[in-house]
Amino acid sequence: MDAITLLREDHKMLRKLLEEFAETTERAVETRKKMLKRIETELAAHTAIEEELFYPALIAATDDIEDKRMVAEGIEEHRACDKKVIPDLHKSDPSSIEYSGQAKVLKDYIFHHLKEEEEDMFPKMRELVSRKELQELGEKMLARKKELLGEMA
Ligand SMILES: [Fe+2]
Ligand SMILES: [Fe+2]
Repeated sequence: MDAITLLREDHKMLRKLLEEFAETTERAVETRKKMLKRIETELAAHTAIEEELFYPALIAATDDIEDKRMVAEGIEEHRACDKKVIPDLHKSDPSSIEYSGQAKVLKDYIFHHLKEEEEDMFPKMRELVSRKELQELGEKMLARKKELLGEMA
């Protein structure tokens, strides 16, 4: 599978999980806990294959400073999610209104990030990297993703 198709499929799955999570209510305490765990696992694996393999491949393929800034922004968005948005949810009570607000913020935050990757980064990557390379990169990313999910299980 090519690298971009793999990431797009991940995005689709993440969007679905995040929508569902944002729609849960204060009564769904157990569901919220379970869903947050799943989202964290999927996000961690997805972010890792981007930062370990996909982003470096884009950096290696470009001379344009704008592309480098785009990658730097992506990394910062991953980090902000990891260090702020998700930790906030862990500090809140899943039966609270605050948690409901934070679940929506998580969804909106990640939706924004996915959209930027899909609209700016992926077309750039298609332009710069050959089909064959994207295919090989995708295979590496898929193998790494499986390995990571195995370690996290
Ligand atoms: Fe990302
Ligand atoms: Fe992504």
